[in-house]
Amino acid sequence: MVDCEDDRDQWGKPMSATTDRTDQAIFAELVDDDRRRVSLQACADEAVYQMELDRIFRRTWLFLGHETEIPEPGNFVTRTMGEDPVVLTRDANGEVHVLLNVCRHRGAKVCRVDQGTARTFECPYHGWTYNVGGALVGVPVQQTMYDEAFARPDYGLRQARVEMHKGLIFATWDRERPPLDDFLGGWARLLDMMYKRTDAGIEVVGPPQRWVIRANWKLPSEQFSGDAYHVGSAHRSLYDVGFGPNVRRYHEHPTWDVFARYAKDYDEVVARDGRLYPPGLNAELFEQVARNLEPDQAELLRTGLGPGAHMVFPNFAALYIPQPALDGSLSASLTFRTFNPRGVDLVEITSWTLAERDAPAEMKQAIQRTTAQNLGAGGVIEQDDSEMWVSIQQNLRGAAARHEFLDYSSSKVGTDKQGWSDDRQWDFWQRWLGYMTAGARGVDPTAGYGTIDRPAGTGTRVYVSA
Ligand code: FES
Ligand SMILES: [Fe+2]
Repeated sequence: MVDCEDDRDQWGKPMSATTDRTDQAIFAELVDDDRRRVSLQACADEAVYQMELDRIFRRTWLFLGHETEIPEPGNFVTRTMGEDPVVLTRDANGEVHVLLNVCRHRGAKVCRVDQGTARTFECPYHGWTYNVGGALVGVPVQQTMYDEAFARPDYGLRQARVEMHKGLIFATWDRERPPLDDFLGGWARLLDMMYKRTDAGIEVVGPPQRWVIRANWKLPSEQFSGDAYHVGSAHRSLYDVGFGPNVRRYHEHPTWDVFARYAKDYDEVVARDGRLYPPGLNAELFEQVARNLEPDQAELLRTGLGPGAHMVFPNFAALYIPQPALDGSLSASLTFRTFNPRGVDLVEITSWTLAERDAPAEMKQAIQRTTAQNLGAGGVIEQDDSEMWVSIQQNLRGAAARHEFLDYSSSKVGTDKQGWSDDRQWDFWQRWLGYMTAGARGVDPTAGYGTIDRPAGTGTRVYVSA
């Protein structure tokens, strides 16, 4: 249980204002703990959606980008926290800010482009001007409009709390929320296995792709929380065209080479190097792993049991897998992405491509192509999933269909299912419920994640947490 009574947001407003526990009945109807199922209404109900914006997206840590996207003073990119527009900036002192992209005069959007370098942002409506640190530095005809009581420092852009984990930038509006390190908990060690395993670490390659599909934001988020089950059927076309494993064989592969085997030069690469390097690494970069990670992390990478996909609640996910490039040669898809809602039935997907900063240029280019080919807006893998999410959302237009359920009744607890179950996706909904009910249903929304835990005997290589 968590007591929210004293929480205050950036405006000094109590965070408890909308966590009325009398609405527990709504959630008792939506989530059936005994049968482990969730009403599809949770993905269609406008009132529930408005609660999510307030109780999840206004409260928790949200992933916004990577420090390599804004390396120099004055660099900025625009992002969103849920539906709130923000500008991610680096000021003259090198400090990172997350500014609410809402003019303090009358609410217009101040910064109108996706990225760039600037000293100031001028609001197009009446011309108020802010520096990249968010301070109000220009007011047209100030002496005519205002008297001496007008104080510019009172009108700086609103700023979210910003914290970084090894280059990954997160922000929250909740000034009382426990620090990011507490939020990530043991999960940080898993993120490091993907994003800080070499001396220089990763960088973002090119601007992220963004697109909107007609689906509730939780449909991709819950899938990324652990749905290895869908791969064999939803992505069967990969097998049909020679890119991926047979549906009947997929779960038998214990390591991440499951997709790599479908590269035409797989045998050649393994014979040449004596092994398959983790996605995105070559022999030289792999040597750096031992000095950047703890022995248990390095061992997981060495044995090919490293993470393949992950999800940090509520909407930060990643895929990290070796795959054939379009010409069939061995490459990799390295991406992280966010699922930000644009209404109850729309989600904006932002998809970044990543590569080791010290990787050769050709390797970065190959990863960029492979990631776009598979997981970009028109990616062959992306289309398979999008079709499912959109079709579910379309079904929810029906008066009968919306009374159906998302079923998570498969559990590995006490079984030998080798990690194939709905447990992780059920974790996603438990955490969702924790935020929506302020802990009243027994899930503490401020709790951090556990340690790296690979379910014993898993055949999925999918490391997930909700
Ligand atoms: S709304 Fe921005 S200057 Fe008026
Ligand atoms: Fe998928």
